[in-house]
Amino acid sequence: MNLLLLLLPPLLFITTTTSTATIPPGSSLYASNTSQTWSSPNNAFFLGFTRVDPTSYVISISTATGVPIWTTVNRTTSAAVVDSGGVFQFLSNGNLRLVNGSGATVWTSNTAKLGVTSASLDDTGNLVLAANTFAVWSSFENPTDTLVPSQNLTVNQTLRSGVYSFQLLRDGNITLTWNESVVYWKQGSSSLSASNVTSPTLRLQPNGILTLSDASSRRSENVAYANDYDVGADVVRFMRLGSDGNLRMYSGGTTAMTWAALADQCQVYGYCGNMGICSYMESSSSPICKCPSLNFEAVDVNDRRKGCKRKVEVENCAGNVTMLELKQTNFFTFQDQQIVTIGITACRGNCLSSTSCFASTSLSDTNAWCYMKNTPDFVSGYQGPVLHSTSFLKVCGPVQPKPSPLEQSGGDKKCWKLRVWAGGVVATISVMAASAGLFCFHTRICIAGQRGLRISLEQEGSGLFTEEFYLTEQQLR
Ligand SMILES: *[C@@H]1O[C@H](CO)[C@@H](O)[C@H](O)[C@H]1NC(C)=O
Ligand SMILES: *[C@@H]1O[C@H](CO)[C@@H](O)[C@H](O)[C@H]1NC(C)=O
Ligand SMILES: *[C@@H]1O[C@H](CO)[C@@H](O)[C@H](O)[C@H]1NC(C)=O
Ligand SMILES: *[C@@H]1O[C@H](CO)[C@@H](O)[C@H](O)[C@H]1NC(C)=O
Ligand SMILES: *[C@@H]1O[C@H](CO)[C@@H](O)[C@H](O)[C@H]1NC(C)=O
Ligand SMILES: *[C@@H]1O[C@H](CO)[C@@H](O)[C@H](O)[C@H]1NC(C)=O
Ligand SMILES: *[C@@H]1O[C@H](CO)[C@@H](O)[C@H](O)[C@H]1NC(C)=O
Ligand SMILES: *[C@@H]1O[C@H](CO)[C@@H](O)[C@H](O)[C@H]1NC(C)=O
Ligand SMILES: *[C@@H]1O[C@H](CO)[C@@H](O)[C@H](O)[C@H]1NC(C)=O
Repeated sequence: MNLLLLLLPPLLFITTTTSTATIPPGSSLYASNTSQTWSSPNNAFFLGFTRVDPTSYVISISTATGVPIWTTVNRTTSAAVVDSGGVFQFLSNGNLRLVNGSGATVWTSNTAKLGVTSASLDDTGNLVLAANTFAVWSSFENPTDTLVPSQNLTVNQTLRSGVYSFQLLRDGNITLTWNESVVYWKQGSSSLSASNVTSPTLRLQPNGILTLSDASSRRSENVAYANDYDVGADVVRFMRLGSDGNLRMYSGGTTAMTWAALADQCQVYGYCGNMGICSYMESSSSPICKCPSLNFEAVDVNDRRKGCKRKVEVENCAGNVTMLELKQTNFFTFQDQQIVTIGITACRGNCLSSTSCFASTSLSDTNAWCYMKNTPDFVSGYQGPVLHSTSFLKVCGPVQPKPSPLEQSGGDKKCWKLRVWAGGVVATISVMAASAGLFCFHTRICIAGQRGLRISLEQEGSGLFTEEFYLTEQQLR
Protein backbone atom coordinates (compact mmCIF):
# COMPACT_ATOMS: atom_id res chain seq x y z
CA MET A 1 0.00 0.00 0.00
CA ASN A 2 2.74 2.42 0.98
CA LEU A 3 4.77 1.50 -2.07
CA LEU A 4 1.83 2.14 -4.39
CA LEU A 5 1.29 5.61 -2.94
CA LEU A 6 4.92 6.45 -3.59
CA LEU A 7 4.68 5.32 -7.20
CA LEU A 8 1.48 7.13 -8.02
CA PRO A 9 2.62 10.73 -8.53
CA PRO A 10 5.37 9.99 -11.12
CA LEU A 11 3.04 7.67 -13.00
CA LEU A 12 0.41 10.39 -13.18
CA PHE A 13 3.01 12.88 -14.37
CA ILE A 14 4.15 10.67 -17.23
CA THR A 15 0.66 9.86 -18.45
CA THR A 16 -0.49 13.49 -18.49
CA THR A 17 2.54 14.75 -20.42
CA THR A 18 2.82 12.03 -23.07
CA SER A 19 -0.84 12.32 -23.94
CA THR A 20 -0.21 15.73 -25.53
CA ALA A 21 2.35 14.57 -28.13
CA THR A 22 -0.19 15.24 -30.87
CA ILE A 23 -1.83 18.59 -30.38
CA PRO A 24 -5.54 18.54 -31.28
CA PRO A 25 -6.90 21.45 -33.35
CA GLY A 26 -8.55 24.01 -31.11
CA SER A 27 -5.98 23.57 -28.30
CA SER A 28 -4.58 26.52 -26.39
CA LEU A 29 -1.77 27.25 -23.96
CA TYR A 30 -2.22 30.16 -21.54
CA ALA A 31 0.58 32.46 -20.37
CA SER A 32 -1.14 32.63 -16.98
CA ASN A 33 -0.36 28.92 -16.45
CA THR A 34 3.29 28.22 -17.26
CA SER A 35 3.03 24.64 -15.98
CA GLN A 36 0.75 23.76 -18.89
CA THR A 37 2.86 22.42 -21.81
CA TRP A 38 2.75 20.36 -24.99
CA SER A 39 5.47 17.70 -24.72
CA SER A 40 7.29 15.44 -27.13
CA PRO A 41 6.49 11.71 -26.64
CA ASN A 42 9.91 11.12 -25.01
CA ASN A 43 9.51 14.20 -22.78
CA ALA A 44 12.85 15.53 -23.99
CA PHE A 45 11.22 18.71 -25.35
CA PHE A 46 8.20 20.78 -24.43
CA LEU A 47 6.39 23.80 -25.76
CA GLY A 48 5.11 26.28 -23.21
CA PHE A 49 5.14 29.80 -21.85
CA THR A 50 8.04 31.14 -19.83
CA ARG A 51 7.88 34.27 -17.73
CA VAL A 52 10.72 36.64 -18.70
CA ASP A 53 9.85 39.45 -16.32
CA PRO A 54 6.97 40.02 -13.87
CA THR A 55 4.52 41.00 -16.62
CA SER A 56 5.97 39.45 -19.83
CA TYR A 57 5.89 35.95 -21.23
CA VAL A 58 7.35 34.24 -24.29
CA ILE A 59 6.31 30.93 -25.85
CA SER A 60 9.18 28.56 -26.60
CA ILE A 61 10.21 24.99 -27.28
CA SER A 62 12.70 24.00 -24.58
CA THR A 63 14.70 20.96 -23.60
CA ALA A 64 13.75 19.08 -20.44
CA THR A 65 16.46 21.05 -18.64
CA GLY A 66 14.87 24.35 -19.73
CA VAL A 67 17.14 25.40 -22.61
CA PRO A 68 14.98 27.22 -25.17
CA ILE A 69 15.63 26.05 -28.75
CA TRP A 70 12.89 27.92 -30.61
CA THR A 71 10.61 30.85 -29.99
CA THR A 72 8.21 33.06 -31.90
CA VAL A 73 10.04 36.06 -33.29
CA ASN A 74 8.48 39.36 -34.23
CA ARG A 75 9.51 41.85 -36.89
CA THR A 76 12.32 43.32 -34.80
CA THR A 77 13.91 39.82 -34.64
CA SER A 78 13.48 39.58 -30.90
CA ALA A 79 11.26 37.12 -29.05
CA ALA A 80 7.62 38.16 -29.28
CA VAL A 81 6.40 38.97 -25.77
CA VAL A 82 2.86 38.92 -24.43
CA ASP A 83 1.30 39.87 -21.11
CA SER A 84 -0.28 37.42 -18.66
CA GLY A 85 -3.42 37.37 -20.84
CA GLY A 86 -1.42 35.87 -23.74
CA VAL A 87 -2.62 32.69 -25.47
CA PHE A 88 -0.86 30.34 -27.92
CA GLN A 89 -3.43 28.60 -30.10
CA PHE A 90 -3.52 25.81 -32.65
CA LEU A 91 -6.67 26.88 -34.47
CA SER A 92 -8.91 24.44 -36.29
CA ASN A 93 -8.14 26.29 -39.56
CA GLY A 94 -4.53 25.04 -39.26
CA ASN A 95 -2.96 28.25 -38.03
CA LEU A 96 -0.67 28.52 -35.02
CA ARG A 97 -1.15 31.90 -33.38
CA LEU A 98 0.19 33.88 -30.45
CA VAL A 99 -2.15 36.61 -29.18
CA ASN A 100 -1.60 39.00 -26.30
CA GLY A 101 -4.10 40.02 -23.64
CA SER A 102 -5.64 42.70 -25.85
CA GLY A 103 -6.49 40.03 -28.43
CA ALA A 104 -3.98 41.37 -30.96
CA THR A 105 -2.10 38.74 -32.98
CA VAL A 106 1.59 39.02 -32.09
CA TRP A 107 2.78 36.07 -34.22
CA THR A 108 1.30 33.55 -36.65
CA SER A 109 2.57 30.58 -38.68
CA ASN A 110 0.46 31.72 -41.68
CA THR A 111 -0.74 28.18 -42.33
CA ALA A 112 -4.50 28.73 -42.40
CA LYS A 113 -6.24 27.07 -45.37
CA LEU A 114 -3.21 24.92 -46.25
CA GLY A 115 -5.02 21.75 -45.27
CA VAL A 116 -3.23 21.36 -41.94
CA THR A 117 -4.82 18.52 -39.99
CA SER A 118 -2.39 17.97 -37.13
CA ALA A 119 0.28 19.56 -35.01
CA SER A 120 2.88 17.65 -33.04
CA LEU A 121 6.13 18.14 -31.20
CA ASP A 122 8.43 15.25 -32.09
CA ASP A 123 11.24 13.62 -30.14
CA THR A 124 13.92 15.74 -31.84
CA GLY A 125 12.27 19.00 -30.74
CA ASN A 126 10.62 19.78 -34.07
CA LEU A 127 7.12 21.27 -34.00
CA VAL A 128 5.42 20.11 -37.20
CA LEU A 129 2.17 21.18 -38.81
CA ALA A 130 1.11 18.48 -41.23
CA ALA A 131 -1.56 17.99 -43.86
CA ASN A 132 -2.13 14.27 -43.38
CA THR A 133 1.54 13.17 -43.42
CA PHE A 134 2.97 16.03 -45.47
CA ALA A 135 4.80 18.64 -43.35
CA VAL A 136 3.45 22.09 -44.27
CA TRP A 137 5.36 24.05 -41.66
CA SER A 138 7.96 23.15 -39.03
CA SER A 139 9.91 24.97 -36.36
CA PHE A 140 13.14 23.43 -37.74
CA GLU A 141 12.49 25.13 -41.08
CA ASN A 142 11.75 28.41 -39.32
CA PRO A 143 14.64 28.57 -36.87
CA THR A 144 15.25 31.43 -34.47
CA ASP A 145 18.75 31.55 -32.95
CA THR A 146 19.39 27.85 -32.18
CA LEU A 147 20.25 24.70 -34.13
CA VAL A 148 19.87 21.23 -32.57
CA PRO A 149 20.96 17.79 -33.85
CA SER A 150 18.68 16.42 -36.61
CA GLN A 151 17.80 19.98 -37.64
CA ASN A 152 19.02 20.83 -41.15
CA LEU A 153 20.19 24.35 -41.89
CA THR A 154 19.95 25.13 -45.59
CA VAL A 155 20.61 28.27 -47.60
CA ASN A 156 17.12 29.64 -47.04
CA GLN A 157 17.28 29.44 -43.25
CA THR A 158 18.95 32.04 -41.11
CA LEU A 159 19.69 32.08 -37.40
CA ARG A 160 19.12 35.58 -36.05
CA SER A 161 19.84 37.37 -32.83
CA GLY A 162 19.20 41.09 -32.77
CA VAL A 163 21.27 42.73 -35.48
CA TYR A 164 23.34 39.56 -36.08
CA SER A 165 22.66 36.64 -38.41
CA PHE A 166 24.22 33.29 -39.26
CA GLN A 167 23.83 31.82 -42.71
CA LEU A 168 24.93 29.05 -45.01
CA LEU A 169 25.69 30.53 -48.40
CA ARG A 170 24.84 28.90 -51.70
CA ASP A 171 28.58 28.28 -52.31
CA GLY A 172 28.94 26.32 -49.07
CA ASN A 173 30.56 29.00 -46.92
CA ILE A 174 29.12 29.77 -43.49
CA THR A 175 29.01 33.39 -42.36
CA LEU A 176 28.24 35.70 -39.48
CA THR A 177 26.79 39.03 -40.59
CA TRP A 178 26.09 42.32 -38.86
CA ASN A 179 22.97 44.27 -39.90
CA GLU A 180 22.55 42.26 -43.13
CA SER A 181 25.60 44.01 -44.54
CA VAL A 182 28.94 43.37 -42.83
CA VAL A 183 30.26 39.79 -42.97
CA TYR A 184 32.70 39.64 -40.03
CA TRP A 185 33.27 35.86 -40.00
CA LYS A 186 33.37 33.44 -42.88
CA GLN A 187 34.45 29.83 -43.07
CA GLY A 188 34.72 27.76 -46.22
CA SER A 189 35.41 24.11 -46.68
CA SER A 190 38.35 22.37 -48.28
CA SER A 191 36.80 19.36 -49.96
CA LEU A 192 33.65 20.95 -51.35
CA SER A 193 34.24 23.29 -54.24
CA ALA A 194 31.95 26.25 -54.84
CA SER A 195 31.57 25.33 -58.51
CA ASN A 196 30.21 21.92 -57.54
CA VAL A 197 28.04 22.81 -54.55
CA THR A 198 24.35 22.67 -55.44
CA SER A 199 22.25 22.59 -52.25
CA PRO A 200 24.46 22.52 -49.17
CA THR A 201 23.13 21.47 -45.76
CA LEU A 202 24.66 22.16 -42.39
CA ARG A 203 23.98 19.77 -39.53
CA LEU A 204 25.10 19.51 -35.92
CA GLN A 205 25.75 15.82 -35.33
CA PRO A 206 24.71 14.30 -31.99
CA ASN A 207 28.44 13.64 -31.34
CA GLY A 208 29.29 17.37 -31.42
CA ILE A 209 30.67 17.73 -34.94
CA LEU A 210 29.22 20.36 -37.25
CA THR A 211 29.11 18.94 -40.77
CA LEU A 212 28.42 20.28 -44.22
CA SER A 213 27.02 18.01 -46.89
CA ASP A 214 25.89 18.54 -50.43
CA ALA A 215 23.95 16.65 -53.05
CA SER A 216 27.01 16.88 -55.33
CA SER A 217 29.15 14.82 -52.99
CA ARG A 218 28.46 11.66 -51.04
CA ARG A 219 30.95 12.71 -48.40
CA SER A 220 30.18 15.29 -45.77
CA GLU A 221 32.81 17.66 -44.50
CA ASN A 222 33.49 18.43 -40.84
CA VAL A 223 33.28 22.16 -40.29
CA ALA A 224 33.75 22.49 -36.52
CA TYR A 225 34.31 20.24 -33.52
CA ALA A 226 33.00 20.71 -29.99
CA ASN A 227 35.88 20.36 -27.54
CA ASP A 228 34.05 17.34 -26.08
CA TYR A 229 33.03 15.72 -29.37
CA ASP A 230 32.43 11.98 -29.33
CA VAL A 231 32.07 11.92 -25.54
CA GLY A 232 28.91 12.23 -23.49
CA ALA A 233 26.51 10.59 -25.94
CA ASP A 234 23.41 11.45 -23.92
CA VAL A 235 24.13 15.17 -23.56
CA VAL A 236 21.80 17.54 -25.44
CA ARG A 237 24.01 19.58 -27.74
CA PHE A 238 22.96 22.75 -29.45
CA MET A 239 24.46 25.62 -31.40
CA ARG A 240 23.30 29.17 -30.81
CA LEU A 241 23.88 32.63 -32.22
CA GLY A 242 24.18 34.82 -29.15
CA SER A 243 22.95 38.38 -28.84
CA ASP A 244 26.65 39.24 -28.63
CA GLY A 245 27.11 38.15 -32.27
CA ASN A 246 29.15 35.03 -31.52
CA LEU A 247 28.12 31.54 -32.62
CA ARG A 248 28.74 28.84 -30.02
CA MET A 249 28.17 25.16 -29.39
CA TYR A 250 27.05 23.94 -25.99
CA SER A 251 26.70 20.60 -24.25
CA GLY A 252 23.70 20.36 -21.95
CA GLY A 253 23.27 24.03 -21.05
CA THR A 254 24.63 27.49 -21.79
CA THR A 255 27.19 27.14 -19.02
CA ALA A 256 28.99 24.36 -20.95
CA MET A 257 30.33 26.11 -24.05
CA THR A 258 32.26 23.70 -26.26
CA TRP A 259 33.09 25.77 -29.35
CA ALA A 260 32.92 29.41 -30.48
CA ALA A 261 33.22 30.82 -33.99
CA LEU A 262 35.25 33.75 -32.67
CA ALA A 263 37.60 33.01 -29.81
CA ASP A 264 38.10 36.77 -29.38
CA GLN A 265 34.74 38.41 -28.65
CA CYS A 266 36.11 41.86 -29.54
CA GLN A 267 36.39 40.62 -33.16
CA VAL A 268 32.58 40.66 -33.41
CA TYR A 269 31.67 43.63 -35.54
CA GLY A 270 29.64 46.23 -33.69
CA TYR A 271 29.88 44.46 -30.33
CA CYS A 272 30.35 47.82 -28.60
CA GLY A 273 27.96 49.75 -30.86
CA ASN A 274 28.77 52.70 -33.07
CA MET A 275 32.01 54.42 -32.01
CA GLY A 276 32.32 52.08 -29.02
CA ILE A 277 35.75 50.58 -28.35
CA CYS A 278 36.04 46.95 -27.30
CA SER A 279 38.96 45.95 -25.07
CA TYR A 280 39.90 43.64 -22.24
CA MET A 281 40.96 44.56 -18.78
CA GLU A 282 44.05 42.77 -17.59
CA SER A 283 43.29 39.51 -15.80
CA SER A 284 39.84 39.30 -17.39
CA SER A 285 38.63 37.52 -20.50
CA SER A 286 35.36 39.45 -20.55
CA PRO A 287 35.30 42.25 -23.10
CA ILE A 288 34.46 45.77 -21.99
CA CYS A 289 33.00 48.61 -24.02
CA LYS A 290 34.39 52.12 -23.68
CA CYS A 291 33.98 55.43 -25.42
CA PRO A 292 37.01 56.68 -27.37
CA SER A 293 37.59 59.76 -25.20
CA LEU A 294 35.84 62.30 -23.02
CA ASN A 295 34.71 63.98 -26.26
CA PHE A 296 32.15 61.15 -26.32
CA GLU A 297 29.42 59.91 -24.05
CA ALA A 298 27.61 56.59 -23.83
CA VAL A 299 24.32 56.41 -25.71
CA ASP A 300 22.95 54.47 -22.72
CA VAL A 301 25.01 54.36 -19.51
CA ASN A 302 23.14 51.21 -18.47
CA ASP A 303 24.05 49.40 -21.68
CA ARG A 304 27.55 50.17 -22.90
CA ARG A 305 26.98 47.98 -25.94
CA LYS A 306 24.69 50.63 -27.40
CA GLY A 307 27.76 52.66 -28.37
CA CYS A 308 28.84 56.25 -28.00
CA LYS A 309 28.02 59.65 -29.43
CA ARG A 310 29.98 62.86 -29.68
CA LYS A 311 29.13 65.41 -27.00
CA VAL A 312 29.42 68.05 -29.75
CA GLU A 313 28.70 66.98 -33.33
CA VAL A 314 31.35 67.96 -35.85
CA GLU A 315 28.77 69.89 -37.91
CA ASN A 316 28.42 72.21 -34.92
CA CYS A 317 32.06 73.23 -34.62
CA ALA A 318 33.08 74.20 -38.12
CA GLY A 319 36.62 75.46 -38.21
CA ASN A 320 37.59 73.74 -34.99
CA VAL A 321 37.48 70.09 -36.03
CA THR A 322 40.45 67.94 -35.06
CA MET A 323 41.43 64.26 -35.03
CA LEU A 324 41.41 62.23 -31.84
CA GLU A 325 44.32 59.79 -31.95
CA LEU A 326 43.77 56.29 -30.59
CA LYS A 327 46.91 54.21 -30.29
CA GLN A 328 46.81 50.41 -30.59
CA THR A 329 43.31 50.74 -31.94
CA ASN A 330 41.72 49.30 -35.05
CA PHE A 331 38.44 50.30 -36.61
CA PHE A 332 37.22 47.16 -38.33
CA THR A 333 37.28 47.43 -42.06
CA PHE A 334 34.90 44.99 -43.65
CA GLN A 335 32.93 47.39 -45.81
CA ASP A 336 34.01 48.97 -49.05
CA GLN A 337 36.08 51.92 -48.15
CA GLN A 338 38.91 53.96 -49.45
CA ILE A 339 42.28 52.26 -48.93
CA VAL A 340 45.38 54.30 -49.65
CA THR A 341 49.06 53.61 -49.07
CA ILE A 342 50.13 56.63 -47.11
CA GLY A 343 51.95 57.12 -43.84
CA ILE A 344 50.37 57.63 -40.47
CA THR A 345 50.58 61.45 -40.55
CA ALA A 346 48.87 61.64 -43.93
CA CYS A 347 46.30 59.08 -42.78
CA ARG A 348 45.32 61.55 -40.08
CA GLY A 349 45.62 64.69 -42.21
CA ASN A 350 43.81 63.38 -45.30
CA CYS A 351 40.81 62.37 -43.25
CA LEU A 352 40.77 65.69 -41.41
CA SER A 353 40.73 67.66 -44.65
CA SER A 354 38.12 65.49 -46.33
CA THR A 355 34.52 66.47 -45.70
CA SER A 356 33.23 62.92 -46.22
CA CYS A 357 35.84 61.14 -44.06
CA PHE A 358 35.10 60.88 -40.35
CA ALA A 359 37.56 58.25 -39.18
CA SER A 360 40.71 56.51 -40.38
CA THR A 361 42.93 53.63 -39.37
CA SER A 362 46.61 53.36 -40.17
CA LEU A 363 48.02 49.82 -40.11
CA SER A 364 51.45 50.95 -39.09
CA ASP A 365 53.06 47.52 -38.92
CA THR A 366 54.52 46.57 -42.30
CA ASN A 367 52.52 48.24 -45.06
CA ALA A 368 51.47 51.85 -44.70
CA TRP A 369 47.84 51.03 -45.42
CA CYS A 370 45.39 53.74 -44.49
CA TYR A 371 41.68 52.99 -44.32
CA MET A 372 39.47 56.05 -44.69
CA LYS A 373 35.93 55.70 -43.39
CA ASN A 374 33.34 57.87 -45.04
CA THR A 375 29.95 59.02 -43.79
CA PRO A 376 27.37 57.68 -43.33
CA ASP A 377 29.10 54.81 -41.65
CA PHE A 378 29.44 52.83 -38.50
CA VAL A 379 32.70 52.51 -36.58
CA SER A 380 33.46 49.38 -34.58
CA GLY A 381 36.67 49.69 -32.57
CA TYR A 382 39.07 47.29 -30.91
CA GLN A 383 41.86 48.44 -28.64
CA GLY A 384 44.54 46.12 -27.32
CA PRO A 385 48.27 45.98 -26.61
CA VAL A 386 48.87 43.51 -29.47
CA LEU A 387 47.39 45.81 -32.11
CA HIS A 388 49.87 47.84 -34.14
CA SER A 389 47.34 50.11 -35.81
CA THR A 390 46.56 53.69 -34.89
CA SER A 391 43.11 55.11 -35.50
CA PHE A 392 41.79 58.63 -35.82
CA LEU A 393 38.31 59.94 -35.20
CA LYS A 394 36.99 63.39 -36.08
CA VAL A 395 35.96 65.38 -33.02
CA CYS A 396 35.37 68.98 -32.05
CA GLY A 397 38.48 70.42 -30.44
CA PRO A 398 39.98 70.36 -27.94
CA VAL A 399 40.76 66.65 -27.67
CA GLN A 400 39.88 65.39 -24.20
CA PRO A 401 41.70 62.10 -23.76
CA LYS A 402 40.66 59.64 -21.12
CA PRO A 403 42.93 59.56 -18.11
CA SER A 404 45.47 56.88 -18.93
CA PRO A 405 45.24 53.76 -16.81
CA LEU A 406 47.20 54.47 -13.69
CA GLU A 407 48.97 51.13 -13.75
CA GLN A 408 50.86 52.35 -16.77
CA SER A 409 51.90 55.62 -15.15
CA GLY A 410 54.55 54.03 -12.97
CA GLY A 411 55.28 55.33 -9.51
CA ASP A 412 53.85 54.06 -6.28
CA LYS A 413 50.61 52.22 -6.46
CA LYS A 414 48.68 49.93 -4.24
CA CYS A 415 45.83 47.72 -5.42
CA TRP A 416 43.31 45.54 -3.71
CA LYS A 417 41.03 43.09 -5.42
CA LEU A 418 37.69 42.78 -3.75
CA ARG A 419 34.38 41.15 -4.42
CA VAL A 420 31.60 43.30 -3.15
CA TRP A 421 27.92 43.77 -3.60
CA ALA A 422 27.35 46.97 -5.52
CA GLY A 423 24.74 48.07 -3.01
CA GLY A 424 27.52 48.48 -0.48
CA VAL A 425 29.68 50.47 -2.85
CA VAL A 426 26.86 52.84 -3.70
CA ALA A 427 26.60 53.89 -0.11
CA THR A 428 30.18 55.12 -0.07
CA ILE A 429 30.79 56.31 -3.62
CA SER A 430 27.81 58.21 -4.90
CA VAL A 431 28.99 58.51 -8.53
CA MET A 432 28.23 54.85 -9.01
CA ALA A 433 24.63 55.07 -7.94
CA ALA A 434 23.32 55.89 -11.40
CA SER A 435 24.54 52.75 -13.10
CA ALA A 436 24.97 50.17 -10.39
CA GLY A 437 22.38 47.49 -9.79
CA LEU A 438 22.26 44.82 -7.17
CA PHE A 439 24.89 42.69 -8.84
CA CYS A 440 28.06 41.18 -7.58
CA PHE A 441 31.09 42.95 -8.93
CA HIS A 442 34.76 42.23 -8.99
CA THR A 443 36.16 45.45 -7.73
CA ARG A 444 39.69 46.65 -8.04
CA ILE A 445 40.77 49.73 -6.19
CA CYS A 446 44.16 51.28 -6.83
CA ILE A 447 45.81 54.17 -5.07
CA ALA A 448 48.44 55.45 -7.43
CA GLY A 449 50.94 58.04 -6.33
CA GLN A 450 49.43 61.52 -6.39
CA ARG A 451 47.09 60.77 -9.25
CA GLY A 452 44.21 59.54 -7.18
CA LEU A 453 42.04 56.47 -7.03
CA ARG A 454 41.01 54.11 -9.80
CA ILE A 455 38.08 51.81 -9.30
CA SER A 456 37.04 49.21 -11.84
CA LEU A 457 33.88 47.22 -11.67
CA GLU A 458 33.21 44.04 -13.53
CA GLN A 459 29.91 42.30 -13.17
CA GLU A 460 30.59 38.74 -12.17
CA GLY A 461 30.10 36.26 -14.99
CA SER A 462 28.72 37.78 -18.16
CA GLY A 463 30.99 40.83 -18.38
CA LEU A 464 28.06 42.58 -19.99
CA PHE A 465 28.40 45.62 -17.82
CA THR A 466 31.70 47.03 -16.81
CA GLU A 467 32.79 50.44 -15.71
CA GLU A 468 35.85 52.25 -14.59
CA PHE A 469 35.85 55.30 -12.37
CA TYR A 470 38.67 57.70 -11.79
CA LEU A 471 38.61 59.86 -8.74
CA THR A 472 41.34 62.45 -8.60
CA GLU A 473 42.98 63.44 -5.37
CA GLN A 474 40.99 66.68 -5.42
CA GLN A 475 37.70 64.84 -5.81
CA LEU A 476 38.62 62.63 -2.91
CA ARG A 477 39.19 65.56 -0.56
C1 LIG B 1 -2.25 24.65 -15.14
O1 LIG B 1 -1.97 23.60 -16.04
C2 LIG B 1 -1.78 22.34 -15.44
C3 LIG B 1 -1.34 21.34 -16.49
O2 LIG B 1 -2.20 21.34 -17.59
C4 LIG B 1 -3.12 21.92 -14.77
O3 LIG B 1 -2.93 20.69 -14.14
C5 LIG B 1 -3.48 22.99 -13.75
O4 LIG B 1 -4.75 22.69 -13.21
C6 LIG B 1 -3.53 24.36 -14.39
N1 LIG B 1 -3.72 25.37 -13.36
C7 LIG B 1 -4.66 26.27 -13.43
C8 LIG B 1 -4.73 27.26 -12.31
O5 LIG B 1 -5.44 26.34 -14.38
C1 LIG C 1 8.94 42.83 -30.78
O1 LIG C 1 9.61 42.48 -29.58
C2 LIG C 1 10.21 43.56 -28.92
C3 LIG C 1 10.99 43.03 -27.74
O2 LIG C 1 10.34 41.99 -27.11
C4 LIG C 1 9.12 44.54 -28.51
O3 LIG C 1 9.72 45.64 -27.85
C5 LIG C 1 8.39 45.01 -29.76
O4 LIG C 1 7.32 45.85 -29.37
C6 LIG C 1 7.84 43.84 -30.52
N1 LIG C 1 7.28 44.29 -31.80
C7 LIG C 1 6.16 43.82 -32.31
C8 LIG C 1 5.74 44.39 -33.61
O5 LIG C 1 5.50 42.96 -31.74
C1 LIG D 1 -0.88 43.62 -27.77
O1 LIG D 1 -0.29 43.73 -29.05
C2 LIG D 1 -0.65 44.90 -29.74
C3 LIG D 1 -0.06 44.80 -31.13
O2 LIG D 1 1.26 44.30 -31.12
C4 LIG D 1 -0.16 46.11 -28.99
O3 LIG D 1 -0.56 47.27 -29.66
C5 LIG D 1 -0.69 46.08 -27.61
O4 LIG D 1 -0.12 47.14 -26.88
C6 LIG D 1 -0.40 44.77 -26.93
N1 LIG D 1 -1.04 44.75 -25.66
C7 LIG D 1 -0.46 44.27 -24.59
C8 LIG D 1 -1.30 44.33 -23.35
O5 LIG D 1 0.68 43.81 -24.62
C1 LIG E 1 17.62 16.51 -42.85
O1 LIG E 1 18.25 16.07 -44.02
C2 LIG E 1 18.34 14.65 -44.14
C3 LIG E 1 19.15 14.31 -45.35
O2 LIG E 1 18.83 15.14 -46.41
C4 LIG E 1 16.94 14.08 -44.18
O3 LIG E 1 17.00 12.68 -44.24
C5 LIG E 1 16.16 14.49 -42.93
O4 LIG E 1 14.84 14.07 -43.01
C6 LIG E 1 16.20 16.00 -42.76
N1 LIG E 1 15.61 16.33 -41.48
C7 LIG E 1 14.59 17.16 -41.36
C8 LIG E 1 14.08 17.38 -39.99
O5 LIG E 1 14.09 17.74 -42.32
C1 LIG F 1 15.53 28.81 -51.45
O1 LIG F 1 14.61 29.80 -51.86
C2 LIG F 1 14.59 30.01 -53.24
C3 LIG F 1 13.68 31.18 -53.56
O2 LIG F 1 12.70 31.32 -52.61
C4 LIG F 1 14.16 28.72 -53.94
O3 LIG F 1 14.16 28.91 -55.32
C5 LIG F 1 15.12 27.60 -53.56
O4 LIG F 1 14.66 26.38 -54.09
C6 LIG F 1 15.24 27.46 -52.05
N1 LIG F 1 16.31 26.52 -51.76
C7 LIG F 1 16.18 25.54 -50.87
C8 LIG F 1 17.37 24.68 -50.67
O5 LIG F 1 15.16 25.35 -50.23
C1 LIG G 1 21.41 48.84 -40.38
O1 LIG G 1 21.18 49.07 -41.76
C2 LIG G 1 20.12 49.98 -42.04
C3 LIG G 1 19.98 50.10 -43.53
O2 LIG G 1 20.29 48.94 -44.20
C4 LIG G 1 20.39 51.32 -41.42
O3 LIG G 1 19.29 52.17 -41.64
C5 LIG G 1 20.62 51.16 -39.93
O4 LIG G 1 20.99 52.39 -39.38
C6 LIG G 1 21.72 50.15 -39.67
N1 LIG G 1 21.86 49.93 -38.26
C7 LIG G 1 22.88 50.40 -37.56
C8 LIG G 1 22.89 50.06 -36.11
O5 LIG G 1 23.76 51.05 -38.08
C1 LIG H 1 33.80 29.96 -50.04
O1 LIG H 1 34.25 31.24 -50.47
C2 LIG H 1 35.52 31.23 -51.09
C3 LIG H 1 35.82 32.64 -51.52
O2 LIG H 1 35.58 33.53 -50.50
C4 LIG H 1 35.53 30.31 -52.29
O3 LIG H 1 36.84 30.24 -52.80
C5 LIG H 1 35.06 28.93 -51.88
O4 LIG H 1 34.99 28.10 -53.01
C6 LIG H 1 33.68 29.04 -51.23
N1 LIG H 1 33.07 27.77 -50.96
C7 LIG H 1 33.50 26.86 -50.08
C8 LIG H 1 32.69 25.62 -49.98
O5 LIG H 1 34.50 27.04 -49.41
C1 LIG I 1 33.23 18.59 -59.50
O1 LIG I 1 32.56 17.34 -59.63
C2 LIG I 1 33.03 16.55 -60.70
C3 LIG I 1 32.23 15.28 -60.75
O2 LIG I 1 30.99 15.42 -60.16
C4 LIG I 1 34.51 16.19 -60.52
O3 LIG I 1 34.99 15.47 -61.62
C5 LIG I 1 35.29 17.48 -60.38
O4 LIG I 1 36.64 17.15 -60.07
C6 LIG I 1 34.70 18.36 -59.27
N1 LIG I 1 35.42 19.60 -59.23
C7 LIG I 1 36.09 20.01 -58.16
C8 LIG I 1 36.81 21.30 -58.32
O5 LIG I 1 36.09 19.38 -57.13
C1 LIG J 1 39.25 74.86 -30.69
O1 LIG J 1 40.17 73.78 -30.51
C2 LIG J 1 41.27 74.08 -29.72
C3 LIG J 1 42.22 72.88 -29.68
O2 LIG J 1 41.96 71.98 -30.68
C4 LIG J 1 40.83 74.47 -28.32
O3 LIG J 1 41.96 74.84 -27.55
C5 LIG J 1 39.83 75.61 -28.39
O4 LIG J 1 39.30 75.83 -27.12
C6 LIG J 1 38.71 75.29 -29.35
N1 LIG J 1 37.86 76.46 -29.51
C7 LIG J 1 36.56 76.43 -29.38
C8 LIG J 1 35.83 77.69 -29.62
O5 LIG J 1 35.95 75.39 -29.09
